[in-house]
Amino acid sequence: MAELTGFNDRMLSLGLARVSEAAALASARLIGRGDEKAADQAAVNAMRDQLNALDIKGTVVIGEGERDEAPMLYIGEEVGSGKGPEVDIALDPLEGTTLTAKDMPNALTVIAMAPRGTLLHAPDVYMEKLAIGPGYKTGVVTLTMSPSERVSALAAAKGCSTHDITVCVLERPRHEEMIAELRTTGCAIRLITDGDVAGVIHCAEPSTGIDMYMGSGGAPEGVLAASALKCMGGQMFGKLLFRNDDERGRAKKAGITNLDRVYTRDDMVTADVIFAATGVTDGSILHGIKREPTHLTTETILMRSKTGSVRRMSYRNPREWSPGHAR
Ligand code: FBP
Repeated sequence: MAELTGFNDRMLSLGLARVSEAAALASARLIGRGDEKAADQAAVNAMRDQLNALDIKGTVVIGEGERDEAPMLYIGEEVGSGKGPEVDIALDPLEGTTLTAKDMPNALTVIAMAPRGTLLHAPDVYMEKLAIGPGYKTGVVTLTMSPSERVSALAAAKGCSTHDITVCVLERPRHEEMIAELRTTGCAIRLITDGDVAGVIHCAEPSTGIDMYMGSGGAPEGVLAASALKCMGGQMFGKLLFRNDDERGRAKKAGITNLDRVYTRDDMVTADVIFAATGVTDGSILHGIKREPTHLTTETILMRSKTGSVRRMSYRNPREWSPGHAR
């Protein structure tokens, strides 16, 4: 693993928690208001403000989109005070914009940070994903196996029946065939309408009861999920999916030469990483923002791959304070 000169992940991680908290607080008043764009914009603004207060020379490698599509937190944007270590940043200021707008479970704000050059510059295309939690031998399930073979292999490794395996899948028409095949094994399927970063994290959090995540979703979210699993333990595989030449062009622009590569968790995140996520709406991993007349309360999960430490932080914030406002 690369030596992390100047990457003081212990102290930086605390700053990272503030960044993810600020984004969540900013989106609080937009939960359940049916306006995805406004919720996302509020989270983006707050995340950027807090990020720029950190003493880092940061480059956004997973962000809100290409420079011409996203005015803020675009891929390649330099963030931070410009003093401090050179780092890559992967972020999703609001993972689950629709979940937030509809006040549905598991909307999160998410950010990961690692030494410069160590996070995969995943283009904005789909990625075929497969993830399981810690404690299994490497390659017990693979992307080349069929969905039912994965369930059988995991059940054998776990020493249980396929009926005792729960698989998490994004509910999409493109997954209908996969779901039908999974049904033949008798396993349980937890269908989610959005938010596959949380979907993958579920596998490493025993209280969720989820053993495996599979299916396609955003490649940028794949790198964020791989960052979380690197801290919590667990295996993840990802393969970029291209629907047209424009998408292949995006990958080439991001410096990817082998378009058929299967990435492991550690191919997507090649050095130690820190990861923070704050709950926006209540979910299976984090409580959402609690709104009370005089204050808002958030819950944040903060993790470091170097130590495997997972810290949960509750933050009570006076309501009149607007995130991004220096205190
Ligand atoms: P947004 O918050 O950007 O809307 O993303 C939500 C999400 O569900 C991701 O978690 C997932 O990777 C992606 O959308 C799936 O894409 P699609 O909705 O096109 O299937």
